[in-house]
Amino acid sequence: MTHDQTPELIETLAAGVAHEVRNPLNSVQINLSILEQELLESLPDRDAHVFKVLRKIAAEIKRLDDFVSEFLRFARPPRLNLEWLPVRPLVTDLTAFIVPECSKKGVALDIDLRGPESASLDGFQLKQAILNLVLNALQATPAGGHVVVRTAGDKSRLVVAVVDDGEGMSPETREKAFTPFFTTREGGTGLGLPLVRRIAEQHGGSVEVSSTPGKGTTVTMVFPAPAGS
Ligand SMILES: Nc1ncnc2c1ncn2[C@@H]1O[C@H](COP(=O)(O)OP(=O)(O)OP(=O)(O)O)[C@@H](O)[C@H]1O
Ligand SMILES: [Mg+2]
Repeated sequence: MTHDQTPELIETLAAGVAHEVRNPLNSVQINLSILEQELLESLPDRDAHVFKVLRKIAAEIKRLDDFVSEFLRFARPPRLNLEWLPVRPLVTDLTAFIVPECSKKGVALDIDLRGPESASLDGFQLKQAILNLVLNALQATPAGGHVVVRTAGDKSRLVVAVVDDGEGMSPETREKAFTPFFTTREGGTGLGLPLVRRIAEQHGGSVEVSSTPGKGTTVTMVFPAPAGS
């Protein structure tokens, strides 16, 4: 196997995982609800212990299914679809979408948009990357904190940074932050930052993290040669 064949191999493995894990999961899910329906006929008390057990099983199945979805999203990245896009509306739309979640937590989400007006980008993927970074920032920032999505750059590069004044990362976390499946969060998958890195690199760009424990984190993506204005 050559290095060039690795992505295809990973895709094949991913398709195998989808088939071998998802289909039986689906069947377990369906059988579980049949069981629940049948039990309800003889035991109408929905709070009975057995229903709690069933709900717990259903929750675990869902967690596994979500994990497989995340894994597939990571293993089968969409092909890069470059278009000439206006950068600022793209960022504004995305942040508008996530403001309610920030407000719910009492975290202010601001934007500071400078730099090139337009760039050659895959809009969907750029939004995915920013969304992952804002969610990370939000998760790390307590009520009263701030998250800023900033764009900057010039004719030769577009810079997109997500800045928070949350808990920051320890040096050990910082070291491992881009390792697939590394997470410090309960319920985290650890694929957010690896995905961000891949999106930046697919565009020929890069991503960097600077973080101070107790002070906050800045993740900066640089996309080369947007050649916009
Ligand atoms: N803005 C941030 N502030 C502090 N720690 C962060 C921040 N962003 C990432 N991290 C740390 O890096 C780890 C990896 O982040 P990553 O986004 O890859 O996975 P995750 O958020 O844990 O899970 P998910 O797959 O749901 O995104 C996090 O668990 C957290 O410890
Ligand atoms: Mg994340």
